[in-house]
Amino acid sequence: MFFKKSIGAFLNLPLRAKLILSFLIVICLGGILSLIFGTRLEHKTILSLAQAKVKHDLASARMVYNERLYDLRDIVRFNSTHESIQKAIKQNEKDILGKYLTSVRTEFNLDVLTLTDAQGKVILRTAQPEIWGDDQSKDSLVRQALKGKTISATQIIPREELIKEGKGLAGRAYLKIIPTPKAAPRPKEHEEDGMMLKAASPVKDKNGTLLGVLYGGILLNQNYEIVDKVKEIVFKGEKYKGAEIGTATIFQHDLRISTNVKKTNGQRAIGTRVSREVNQAVLKEGKTWLHRAFVVNDWYLTAYEPIKNIEGKIIGILYVGMLEKPYIDLRNKVMITFTVMAIICVVILLIMLFFITSTIIQPLRGMVYATNKIAQGDLNTKVEISVRDEIGQLAQSFNQMTENLKKANEKLIHWGKTLEKRVEERTKELREMQDSLVQSEKLASLGKIAAGVAHEINNPLTSILINTYLMKEKIKTNHTFYENLSLIADETSRCANIVKGLLEFSRQEPPKKAYEDINKIINRTLQLLKNQASFQNIRIIKKLNQNLPQIKLDKNKIQQVFWNFMINASDAMPKGGILTITSDFSKEKKNIEVTFYDKGIGIPQKNINKLFDPFFTTKKSGTGLGLAVSYGIIKQHQGNIKVKSEQDQGSVFTISFPIS
Ligand SMILES: Nc1ncnc2c1ncn2[C@@H]1O[C@H](COP(=O)(O)OP(=O)(O)O)[C@@H](O)[C@H]1O
Ligand SMILES: [Mg+2]
Repeated sequence: MFFKKSIGAFLNLPLRAKLILSFLIVICLGGILSLIFGTRLEHKTILSLAQAKVKHDLASARMVYNERLYDLRDIVRFNSTHESIQKAIKQNEKDILGKYLTSVRTEFNLDVLTLTDAQGKVILRTAQPEIWGDDQSKDSLVRQALKGKTISATQIIPREELIKEGKGLAGRAYLKIIPTPKAAPRPKEHEEDGMMLKAASPVKDKNGTLLGVLYGGILLNQNYEIVDKVKEIVFKGEKYKGAEIGTATIFQHDLRISTNVKKTNGQRAIGTRVSREVNQAVLKEGKTWLHRAFVVNDWYLTAYEPIKNIEGKIIGILYVGMLEKPYIDLRNKVMITFTVMAIICVVILLIMLFFITSTIIQPLRGMVYATNKIAQGDLNTKVEISVRDEIGQLAQSFNQMTENLKKANEKLIHWGKTLEKRVEERTKELREMQDSLVQSEKLASLGKIAAGVAHEINNPLTSILINTYLMKEKIKTNHTFYENLSLIADETSRCANIVKGLLEFSRQEPPKKAYEDINKIINRTLQLLKNQASFQNIRIIKKLNQNLPQIKLDKNKIQQVFWNFMINASDAMPKGGILTITSDFSKEKKNIEVTFYDKGIGIPQKNINKLFDPFFTTKKSGTGLGLAVSYGIIKQHQGNIKVKSEQDQGSVFTISFPIS
């Protein structure tokens, strides 16, 4: 549950945090693992290094020990070959012998220096001259020397012999055993025998005849010469934080008899014993024993090896111990350095990570910014990323997508605009259609009424006219009614004209269409108009396209239409003016257009819509039927009429005929 939650939280983190966190986990894990393995390895290395050192030190200690033994042997041998000794033995000059050998003993710091005769009986004991004559031939070394060999070894010397050999020797050897809990059991609570470095050499005369044996010895019990020399040579007497770095000890069996390990009170720690383990390994099995051990009050790396007597029997132990603390401190120091370096590395890596992730995140930020802008509708935004990795590719396809989106959007906008225009056009067309429908409707209904009325009025009007003319013929021109009759005749003929127009207007008969040249119709109409009085001041400008095709139309009706337009134009220019007549293709070449352009009085805006209404006129003697009739005819030809006019400037009437 918690695990799931933390994964969820992790996934919701910002990308940079996620990257850094993942790397951090990897780095920390790696760091911790390498720290664990590193310290283990380092611990092992340092410890094995220390162990190798302590082993080496043990060998050095052994060298110091043996050196002392060989030194002793050389002293004994050298003096045994001394001529004066041979002479003294032969002539039994005990005084001279005693003086000389005593000086040798004290000079070389020996505890024992004794001379026997050829049978092994003591002649002179320099350390205790009063005791002599005892037999030493049983002693292993003396026995060998009596056979002519110079020999040296470590030997256990029993208390009786110690008492004989010198004053105080037995006292030095006597040691009360301090109870040691871990040590193996021991029969006695004290030690009275001594351990001695001993050398013996035969004394011969010139002929090689054995005269006696000279033997010397150094009692090791409570003699600190060797152990201190080991300390001095091997460990150079160094101390570490007040504690001795190196210590050496000589054991008689398992008992410390010579050591520089100090007790807490500063005294040398003699009288204690080795542990059962060491006892078993070194004394019983004869092995070298390397281990760490707690000695007095510090941990030591220790090494033990057996000391053997001349028969090869293990009689004691040589020990060196090296303070573990310097190595532990070294190990800790290395570990701390290692840890600090690891932390520094992590920090450096983190800083690097920050910049590295920046280079990754930056382009993504750019993307996010760009997408936001695009989402807000700015399709001109582009993601500027120069790198060619996956993000770069993403940016590229993103830009492509935006480009496509932009194009689609533009298309849509364009389409919307054309749609608007189309709707507008269509609406206009529809309105026009409706208008013309209304117009046609009006005309149709009006036509019916007009036809009825005209038919009824035409006959009475004709008879009024005929009777008026008859009456006029019967009276003289100066008759009082003559003027009145003329007026009646004029007005009646005007009425007849209206009726005639009405009849024309209402005539619903279909046009008789044939292929005609429209220019020809224009010209013929003009021909007829020339004689009209109102046309005398009008200048006609013709711009006729001679390449127009013939189209199907009723030439009489179209002539009537053209006539109407031209008459209207001349009416609009009572003082004369220019009438321009053109014929041409329409823009799309679908229609033929004929225009009448006059520079007359023009039409006020409010009247434009009423022009084609029947009976709409602004003229005194107008019928208001000309345009209405014309409209009807043009519609019968599927054509159209458009008006453009400006007051006091003139008017343009455009009639269009479909070509097909
Ligand atoms: N070219 C023109 N210039 C100015 N007004 C015109 C022109 N053509 C027609 N009109 C106007 O249109 C009205 C209707 O014309 P029309 O139907 O021919 O009847 P009428 O000519 O008998 O008045 C005219 O009275 C006039 O006001
Ligand atoms: Mg008219």
